[in-house]
Amino acid sequence: MRVVLGVSGGIAAYKAVEVCRRLVDAGHHVVPVMTDAARRFVGAATFSALASEPVPDGLWEGGIPHTRLGQTADLVVVAPATADLLARYAAGMADDLLTATLLATRAPVVVCPAMHTEMWEHPAVEENLAILRRRGVRVVEPASGRLAGGDVGTGRMAEPRDIVACVAAWFGAPGDLQGRRVVVSAGGTREAIDPVRVITNRSSGKQGHAVAEAARDRGAEVTLVTASVLEPPPGVRVVPVESAADMEEAMRAACEHADVVVMAAAVADFRPKASAEAKIHEAPDLVLEPTPDIIAGLAARRRPGQVLVGFAAETDDAMARGRRKLDRKGVDLLVVNDVSAPGAGFDHDTNEVTILEPGGRATVVPLQSKRAVADAILDRVVARLQGESA
Ligand code: CTP
Repeated sequence: MRVVLGVSGGIAAYKAVEVCRRLVDAGHHVVPVMTDAARRFVGAATFSALASEPVPDGLWEGGIPHTRLGQTADLVVVAPATADLLARYAAGMADDLLTATLLATRAPVVVCPAMHTEMWEHPAVEENLAILRRRGVRVVEPASGRLAGGDVGTGRMAEPRDIVACVAAWFGAPGDLQGRRVVVSAGGTREAIDPVRVITNRSSGKQGHAVAEAARDRGAEVTLVTASVLEPPPGVRVVPVESAADMEEAMRAACEHADVVVMAAAVADFRPKASAEAKIHEAPDLVLEPTPDIIAGLAARRRPGQVLVGFAAETDDAMARGRRKLDRKGVDLLVVNDVSAPGAGFDHDTNEVTILEPGGRATVVPLQSKRAVADAILDRVVARLQGESA
């Protein structure tokens, strides 16, 4: 694809250098367009050296550059998109080469906002983004983390790797989950004892988030119902939840039209029968009750052809327990995770699993990154969607 990479003037312009390199590495023809403010952060020579064409000088360069760039682009990516750039674009201004190119193009546009938290949360910015979204502009949401000047908060530009992954998922060659709706649950639910304390478990949500990210990269439209405090991957719809009851409601709604449901969450098995309204000051006699079995409810209500994936975190006799759970839960795939194995399970960046299917098929996935494990799970999901059974 011919990609115009617009760079506006924020500190994240230094990360746009990597976006440029990754887009070129992915085989795209990249033309960088920098605002004057962007040139104060990073030299044009840096982009010219990495991109497929040098950075054009500006609107007044010969050959009507904005119409040439706008008309020939297959995609325009603006990274970083500052509050000022978003405002000028939303208002239809065309006072520099980047905004003029944005107006002159009919190609899809992706913006990757980056700014301080106060600016990101300002109603003017929110409204400008809402206008742009209504016009079909895609947004790669910022993450939270370190900002310029040492502040911490939301507004940090998404990582270059995620920006390029969103571009590939939205506009690249169709992946094997293109057009499929995938719902993933992740993280350990928290069940309130009182307003201050909760019962929870050791699940980090990393494996579930990795499945959501992998499904996004394979072209799916992803909803992530997450109880994890980790940053969710950009480019997926996120429904944050806390308790098993919240998760049950969110999953029920999200799964109604889903093609694939991956229940990677570690749902608390028990919750306090009643949670105190005010902070408890003496050790209570906790009375616990079981939480609803979310996946069993989803299995009972599943639409024809929907592929349902469960997880089982075990510490002993994992395979035998997994087989029994596969039958009991009525799922198509059960990912058995022996969380006592070194480097596997809770909070690790790596995992090692066995994927069980009715009929006896077992796929052993050796120790590797949670992202690679996610892709191995989705390989089996795709096989089942395509009608292959065990
Ligand atoms: N699960 C669920 N709702 C619950 C408990 C678990 O949907 N209340 C889902 C999990 O997300 C997972 C699968 O069921 O996909 C298996 O979870 P696990 O905790 O291993 O199974 P349990 O039903 O709790 O069985 P046991 O406690 O006997 O191991």
